[in-house]
Amino acid sequence: MTKDTSNQMWGGRFAAGPDAIMEAINASIGYDQRMAAQDIAGSRAHAAMLAKTGILTDSDAEAIREGLLTVLSEIEGGTFEFSAALEDIHMNVEARLKEVIGEPAGRLHTGRSRNDQVATDFKLWVRDQIDAAIQGIAALIRAFVAQAEAGADWVMPGFTHLQTAQPVTWGHHMMAYVEMLGRDLTRFQDARARMNESPLGAAALAGTSFGIDRQMTAEALGFDRPAANSLDAVADRDFALEFLAASSICAMHLSRFAEELVIWSSAQFRFVTLSDRFSTGSSIMPQKKNPDAAELIRAKIGRIFGANTALLMVMKGLPLAYSKDMQEDKEQVFDAADNLMLALAAMEGMVKDMTANRESLEAAAGSGFSTATDLADWLVRALNMPFRDAHHVTGSLVAMAESRGCDLPDLTLDDMKSVHEAITADVFDVLGVHNSVASRLSYGGTAPTRVREQIARWKEAL
Ligand code: ARG
Repeated sequence: MTKDTSNQMWGGRFAAGPDAIMEAINASIGYDQRMAAQDIAGSRAHAAMLAKTGILTDSDAEAIREGLLTVLSEIEGGTFEFSAALEDIHMNVEARLKEVIGEPAGRLHTGRSRNDQVATDFKLWVRDQIDAAIQGIAALIRAFVAQAEAGADWVMPGFTHLQTAQPVTWGHHMMAYVEMLGRDLTRFQDARARMNESPLGAAALAGTSFGIDRQMTAEALGFDRPAANSLDAVADRDFALEFLAASSICAMHLSRFAEELVIWSSAQFRFVTLSDRFSTGSSIMPQKKNPDAAELIRAKIGRIFGANTALLMVMKGLPLAYSKDMQEDKEQVFDAADNLMLALAAMEGMVKDMTANRESLEAAAGSGFSTATDLADWLVRALNMPFRDAHHVTGSLVAMAESRGCDLPDLTLDDMKSVHEAITADVFDVLGVHNSVASRLSYGGTAPTRVREQIARWKEAL
């Protein structure tokens, strides 16, 4: 693999090549070759600008342009020989360009440095990932909305502390994730808008004495404008950190739903059945169907959090401008991006395929005295009781039901009257789970009417 070209880029200053260990710690080509397409796009934009500004002749620029296309097709075709001695993707591409077109290749690096080059390549790469994340999130949102629509009025227990709290609708629960993912989506959009300034032309750190046109390269690469401070342009990795932060928050949401799926698919809950396509069996226990995809999402998310922390640690002690520490940015971001995309796709598959078990959900919705709050609210409304007193009366009725091993609607009117004599038979209307959810009509509440409004709003927005 390694070609003997170790001094090609800065050999003038050096009498000897690097130690093998130096090469091993220094080389990033093993992973930054993933930015080959971005690197070549950046070089093409730079070369075209150098020609336009008269810094390069048109014929040199044309040779460079064609040569870069050849190099790109070699990389895409898998015939390119990457060299660790050439350290990174930038020098690998340039060295090969020299082999392909000769002398003009040496003019490509005029008015730029690897510092602005790597910042540009990496930004372009992260920007693509942001776009992919936005796509993935939108697809997952659609899957949740479809689930919500199918069961907008199905009842299930709502939990706090994972203890039965109040009945909610399946649609409402699904739409809660839509809200989270909607925020995730805009976080990525925000990050994209903020990051979209071109570092190219910042050169090593101070700018350049050549009459370059940074506006032109910025435009060619789809940036909104050139970054305004050359020191900042080469030293900034905020864009990667924002990507990791947005990824972490999104991943956290995925992990929470993954956890719910693990719980819900258990024999004890039976709230959902996951499809065979997103489950695995056991080699010994024939009855098993395991929610592995959900568990792996829950676990992989840790790598994304780790990447976020790792890059913050890399950056926090660095004086301006570029330091080689910053080469350690890429693997973290690559790994986080790969795992985020995988997690989004796997979650979309699971959500699309899963079957909500309406009967189990409904049975569970009514257990655990889930309508106790409805009873207390009834006492307030019908008997004008202060809520604190109503809470107390209801608590006594719950204790009575619990001691008898029955649910609240199973108590008789006489039972109720023995706790508070003014209670009437009307109270039983509010103890049913369907009435309970239908009554929660406050904006954002769990009533099917409200849930359907939100579904409609999201379908419109998508
Ligand atoms: N491979 C380097 C990186 O990923 C490219 C920039 C090198 N710049 C330098 N001054 N040594 O950061």
